[in-house]
Amino acid sequence: MTDESADPTNPANLRHVLSHVPTSVVVVTAMARGVPVGLTVGSFSSVSLDPPLVNFFIDLKSRTWLKLNEANTFTVNVLGKDHEHLCRAFSRPSADRFEGIEWSPSPSGNPVLREASVALECSRYKIEILGDHVQVVGRVRAMQAQAPDLPLVFYRGAFLKL
Ligand SMILES: Cc1cc2nc3c(=O)[nH]c(=O)nc-3n(C[C@H](O)[C@H](O)[C@H](O)COP(=O)(O)O)c2cc1C
Repeated sequence: MTDESADPTNPANLRHVLSHVPTSVVVVTAMARGVPVGLTVGSFSSVSLDPPLVNFFIDLKSRTWLKLNEANTFTVNVLGKDHEHLCRAFSRPSADRFEGIEWSPSPSGNPVLREASVALECSRYKIEILGDHVQVVGRVRAMQAQAPDLPLVFYRGAFLKL
């Protein structure tokens, strides 16, 4: 831990070291002025059981955040081991990330990806700016376990083969 290359104030070093922590992969979706929006998120986690809270962190520079920030609700679509294509589709720069993707509306109208293993319908509970990210906390309003499967896991810049 005395190695200078491990200086945590260097973002590239920090990103590299933290890439050793495996993360789940979800796609957060919402409707912004009638248009579906979504992005791939690796920072999702549960927060509280009572009340039922979950959270994720989004880059303040994200253009998707500008749209997501207008919505009072969002849906967390949990990806399974065969959903690398969804992870890529929702992290690429594209005018329409939903092109060719099958989805249906959640109770509040947000896109539920047909292939997602689990979908969590959330209302916005709290947001807080922390450094260069925004913490978005949601209260889970409805849950749908569509096709539970082994998870898609991101580890050291690639998908972990399970
Ligand atoms: C596996 C993976 C995990 C990601 N996790 C996050 C995340 O937790 N927060 C975030 O802001 N972006 C995350 N991203 C990046 C976004 O999916 C996407 O690239 C970003 O939204 C693009 O910027 P835009 O919103 O301006 O289009 C992740 C990307 C990948 C491939």
